[in-house]
Amino acid sequence: MPYLTPTYLIHLNLPDMLPEALALAGQIIREGGLVAFPTETVYGLGANALDEQALARIFAAKERPTSDPIIAHVAYLEQVAELAQDIPPEAEALARVFWPGPLTLVLRKRLHVPDLLTAGQPTVAVRLPDHPIARAFIEAAERPIAAPSANRFSRPSPTRAEHVLYDLSGRVDVILDGGPTPIGLESTIVDFSQPDEPPRLLRLGGLPLEALRAHLPTLSLPVLRLNADQPAPAPGTLLKHYAPTAEVVLFRGQDEAALRRALRSAAEARLAQGQRLAALLPDGWVNWLTGLPIQVMAWGEDSAQRSARLFAALRELEQQPIDAILACAPPQVAHDGLDMAAWDRLLRAAEGRFHDV
Ligand code: TXA
Ligand code: MG
Repeated sequence: MPYLTPTYLIHLNLPDMLPEALALAGQIIREGGLVAFPTETVYGLGANALDEQALARIFAAKERPTSDPIIAHVAYLEQVAELAQDIPPEAEALARVFWPGPLTLVLRKRLHVPDLLTAGQPTVAVRLPDHPIARAFIEAAERPIAAPSANRFSRPSPTRAEHVLYDLSGRVDVILDGGPTPIGLESTIVDFSQPDEPPRLLRLGGLPLEALRAHLPTLSLPVLRLNADQPAPAPGTLLKHYAPTAEVVLFRGQDEAALRRALRSAAEARLAQGQRLAALLPDGWVNWLTGLPIQVMAWGEDSAQRSARLFAALRELEQQPIDAILACAPPQVAHDGLDMAAWDRLLRAAEGRFHDV
């Protein structure tokens, strides 16, 4: 345990409480404390991005290695100038289209930006979130806010205040509870820091790839890393990530009948070995395991629902006494950017392994 502090959970469903809660949260940030807050993607664990000691508290609370850099959140575009040397025209144009929103830009950092924020790299990641509480909180703090997802390292990202409390109770001063986060997956990250190279996609996320590419045709895509022995393309893109405590077993394929047979026979084999199973299946496929003693969770009808529910579903399932979670890629995974991003998270939860049917 790095330290113990009482954690205050403030429900913001009463609008009257908002000004007072924001004033308190802003003061805690200026004094070097930690405030968890909702964004449109996931909950963030916020601290003053320019305060080395406050940043150290983030790493301690999350038990996160300092080799993993943190995104700085701003309340308006002009605030980027506090963190980055410059913003390339292509990056600024993208920000003008998608900010506020689930897009993070990696830019060349200014000298005074702490090394702890950027993992010693000459770059800084910046995002302007699209959530009224997040923006009001950053304004109240009068500082850019460093915020990783508010989970313990390697755990699924939190999409509800109770997920934050579960992982970080006693390690964060205040949690601003703004209800469930609408997108449910972290921001899409694009690297603009190499002036002579095309912008590079570092992480799939809440801004769908097809929307991004429509505005950024020069975008270079990461090589899909399916093998744990290959080096990570960017810090923080480890294969083991977002992992719930149960094993995650994944299936993907174009032929529905074959996929269904593969899922069922894997389920039967595992049940025969005495394993306790749950399954996460796109809504149209929930009857695929009918007749077997398996708790089947409907993942969602479309990619927006599936993204919004994924992390909460993993956290809910791990509360059950189960050994493994079986999950199938939705049919749209090959062309729908949100489903791609959700699959990317599941793949990491499964440490990079999946059954290609
Ligand atoms: O939606 C989000 O992005 C959420 C909310 C809270 O804003 N935040 C989030 O932060 O997902 P986190 O810490 O869980 O993921 C941040 C990732 C790092 O793991 C790393 O991959 C990338 O952002 N990153 C941060 N700074 C970077 C930099 N200077 N260069 C390259 N990648 C960077
Ligand atoms: Mg995270």
